[in-house]
Amino acid sequence: MSGFKEVDFGMPSPKQRVHTPPDSPDKTTRPKDSPLDTKKDSLGENRGSIRHRRLGSWGNMVPIETSPGSHNTIEVPALRSPDADTSPYMHNLSLSPSMRERRVSRNSFGAALPIPKSKRQSRLSSVTFPGIQDVLKRPGMPPIQPTREILASQVQDVYAEKVKAAKNMAFVFDIDGVLVHGDRLIPEGKRVLDMLNGDNQLGIRIPHIFLTNGSGKPELARTEQLSKILQNPISTEQFIQSHTPMRALAEYYNTVLVVGGEGTRCREVAEQYGFKDIIVPNDIVAWDPSIAPYRVFTEEERAAARPRDFSKINIDAIMVFSDSRDYATDMQIIVDLLRSENGRLGTIAKDPVSQRIPIYFSQGDMLCPTEHPIPRMSQGAFRIGLEAMYKALTGVELERVVYGKPELATYKYADEVIASWMDILHGEERVPENVYMIGDNPASDIIGGNMYGWNTCLVRTGVFQGGENDPENPASFGVFANVWEAVTAACRKELGDDFVFKWDDKGVNPVLHDSAAASAIEV
Ligand code: G3P
Ligand code: MG
Repeated sequence: MSGFKEVDFGMPSPKQRVHTPPDSPDKTTRPKDSPLDTKKDSLGENRGSIRHRRLGSWGNMVPIETSPGSHNTIEVPALRSPDADTSPYMHNLSLSPSMRERRVSRNSFGAALPIPKSKRQSRLSSVTFPGIQDVLKRPGMPPIQPTREILASQVQDVYAEKVKAAKNMAFVFDIDGVLVHGDRLIPEGKRVLDMLNGDNQLGIRIPHIFLTNGSGKPELARTEQLSKILQNPISTEQFIQSHTPMRALAEYYNTVLVVGGEGTRCREVAEQYGFKDIIVPNDIVAWDPSIAPYRVFTEEERAAARPRDFSKINIDAIMVFSDSRDYATDMQIIVDLLRSENGRLGTIAKDPVSQRIPIYFSQGDMLCPTEHPIPRMSQGAFRIGLEAMYKALTGVELERVVYGKPELATYKYADEVIASWMDILHGEERVPENVYMIGDNPASDIIGGNMYGWNTCLVRTGVFQGGENDPENPASFGVFANVWEAVTAACRKELGDDFVFKWDDKGVNPVLHDSAAASAIEV
């Protein structure tokens, strides 16, 4: 799928851009400050620390607005149709005469997707990176022998140009199919992280973050698990999973239905994001088992459920955080809520549009590679099923919002995380000029990276099994056998062909006196 132009969706050109959504189909009665309400954009206004960079096919985007009253969020206009990734699958569900019309009637243009203003987006970081200052300033300790940190800083003084280039590049890693397969390590993944974390000629940490459509666990739990698998520290401060940007929605909705994931893990995720009143489908089934007639409800599930009288509660929004473990129950409850009067179970709205509560999905992947030989259905497939059911039952299209790759909001959020991580690593809060996305899925990692103006590298260790390059969404920097090949090619381009992908203690430590190179370095 190539990049979309806004005019394809009935959007005005940048010069014509107005501050209201183009014939927005959304006439719902949401809370006044709902994130789906269009905010006036502020072309040319100060946008804080967010860097303005070239943006592939999203290049004409409306700038981010940071209003004084917006607390910890920034508004990101959803310029790209959330339908785009599923359009090939959706045509037979559309009653509209043309794709263009269908998209205009179904997309969320003009809606503002909130994302957290992410500087120090989480205080749950599991990993600290002691800097050289910490090493030097330990009171009462004997004089320190030259450590790698000290030697590295001296080497870096000598190779100032390479250091500058190393701080002007960053990697964004997809996880599944690039660094790991589920819980299984891809060996080149560990090798790459070793190198980027300092096992290189300069002993320098080359900035990198992780951007996955994975979901279903709190960030800390997942980064701890990944740190073990990859045998490298991964901080929550450099980690984005599909629902991470959705923490911003906690400011807008009080009572939410959270769907998907194992057991009650997504309730835990929502709690950590600050959602106040969280309901999961099992709470509803425990209150009224007849709502899901085919459900076999175990004692364990009943014990973990928090039933109450849901006929007296309005649910403000639906958040699909992760893959449904029980399509029949989850779809039934979601459709019940979407058809209800303002989220009150047991009611059916007279007008299915104006009284409908909003629904959000954390990502739109149709398929996900697993141990099974044929990829399994993921959230995108679940969503398409829901859309079809909703349309069949109400006669109207379901408007919805999708986060995750390749949606714009997620890439804007990634920019924030890169800048913040640069600050932690190198004391410079900015996005490097040369960002490389390494991914295995052309329809997610590569299209998103291309549209955002990043360099993109496609690896052959995951979803992509094709020829020279993906014909629909070709990787701009190339196709590589694995993540090591991709990262080293990018480093050679930015740091020179002579860049060495190994730290050599002996080569730089004058105490060991066995290298001519050491003479260039004063201790
Ligand atoms: O599609 C779900 C998830 O497994 C994809 O993960 O890391 O490849 O974005 P990732
Ligand atoms: Mg992947």
